[in-house]
Amino acid sequence: MKPDVLMTRPSTPAALAALERPFRVHRLWEAADPAAFLKEVGPSIRGIASDGGAGASAELMGALPRLEIVAISAVGLDAVDLGHAKARGIVVANTPDVLTEDVADMALALLLAAAREVVPGDAHARSGAWGREGNRPLTRRVNGKRAGILGLGRIGRAVARRLEAMNVQVAYHNRRPIESPYIYYGRASDLARDVDFLIVTAAGGEGSRGLVDREVIEALGPDGILVNVARGSVVDEEALTDALRDGKLAAAGLDVFAHEPHVPEALRSLPNVVLQPHMGSATVETRAAMADLVVRNLEAHFAGKLLPTPVPL
Ligand code: GLV
Repeated sequence: MKPDVLMTRPSTPAALAALERPFRVHRLWEAADPAAFLKEVGPSIRGIASDGGAGASAELMGALPRLEIVAISAVGLDAVDLGHAKARGIVVANTPDVLTEDVADMALALLLAAAREVVPGDAHARSGAWGREGNRPLTRRVNGKRAGILGLGRIGRAVARRLEAMNVQVAYHNRRPIESPYIYYGRASDLARDVDFLIVTAAGGEGSRGLVDREVIEALGPDGILVNVARGSVVDEEALTDALRDGKLAAAGLDVFAHEPHVPEALRSLPNVVLQPHMGSATVETRAAMADLVVRNLEAHFAGKLLPTPVPL
């Protein structure tokens, strides 16, 4: 008999089909009354397949008495109650590595778009304003400048490699220095003060909540650019909006927000911010690799084998 797996949110048709081959999939997002649905199917569920945003709360896991494994299609685990999983001996898996390069590409896309004003430039050419009003104002150079990476992990390193290719000097802030060719800063605000661009690639969760606060944003300064491809929770969104509006920060490129999919109106109305609806890993290739890894983690678990990408608890 196929093990019963609860899927929290819709994915691509291919990912769903891949999950349905080895498992009996129960679709939580289609339930009109999720609590009643969980009461009905909960006792049979042995695995959860979820994404980074939905994760797996203690409440959800608590409704599944036979739960053995949570497989997340994301690298970020801030929406998974790891304490609850550990206490109950529930195994957790995520999808690191396969998404690293795409998220780093997105960071660069946002940095370049913000600095070179690609979106307003597109509007200027597209609308005919170029012919009517003439050239747009000059933009900011990226190559040859200095960038700070906040959270030098796998994705941060991939961003750093790209920046090096553009002759951008790289420094970083982590809680502790790590083995790397880049200069370490013990304080995020000191790093921000010394660079032109701050790229946020830190893990989300309580440990990094509000790390990019008003002080860090203002240290980056009126010519600085902030890029966030990590989690909205790492940045004080209100302080960021104020700084962008008041000329205390030049521009920002944001793929993530504090309360997704809500993007505050105050942020949406600013011309000096480039917005993306959390698309860092959202390419056909990477999403297929992530879906495959979710299935392989679940299959390995139910076959009593080592998981390809377990999360140490
Ligand atoms: C996406 O946000 C992820 O955590 O992989």
